Amino acid sequence: MKSSKILVIVTHPDIHKSVISKRWLQELQENSDLVTIHQLHVRYPDGKIDVAAEQKLLLEHDTIILQFPLYWFSTPPLLKQWQDEVLTHGFAYGRGTEKLAGKRIGAAVSAGIKEVDYRQSGRYHYTLEELLRPLRVTIEYISAEYLPVFACYGIESGISEEELDTNAAHYLQYIRDLTPASCDIAD
Ligand SMILES: Cc1cc2nc3c(=O)[nH]c(=O)nc-3n(C[C@H](O)[C@H](O)[C@H](O)COP(=O)(O)O)c2cc1C
Repeated sequence: MKSSKILVIVTHPDIHKSVISKRWLQELQENSDLVTIHQLHVRYPDGKIDVAAEQKLLLEHDTIILQFPLYWFSTPPLLKQWQDEVLTHGFAYGRGTEKLAGKRIGAAVSAGIKEVDYRQSGRYHYTLEELLRPLRVTIEYISAEYLPVFACYGIESGISEEELDTNAAHYLQYIRDLTPASCDIAD
């Protein structure tokens, strides 16, 4: 059955040691009326993904957020594996079989490096948006809509409890703004 909730697929290899992903998760868990939370590492500690179950979950939701920490300017390996194994020909792509077409898919990303270093004039020259292009093109390839990214930068420089709370509130607002209930019904 179709759910009106947003599916948040959380990928973090050690959520207990996490600072930001854990806080975001807590915020989501406190608002479980809005979201279906799906933690890949919790569900698949052995790394063996149940492809049929993942595809079913995707079909049951219209809006999907991939929540992950940036690892080597990309997704963590289990999320890459998930893309490889779940977004299959005949399901996600292939003539007449694009079952995720029209869905809205986005990313909520935490980065250790500061935002200033991700500017074109900064130390690494490429913005997060630019670095996430492979994900964006993947989403567009399967005819889904790529949503604006939610990001939190500079975790390695330390984040205060207050900043963490503010960021988590912004994340919740981002999720709320994506909920179909916030759309204009005249659309
Ligand atoms: C293997 C590995 C690779 C990482 N690569 C990057 C990177 O490319 N860019 C970056 O900004 N941070 C990088 N980081 C830092 C993480 O993104 C950061 O620790 C994480 O987002 C913090 O979130 P958490 O508190 O939920 O773990 C890396 C961390 C690890 C463990």
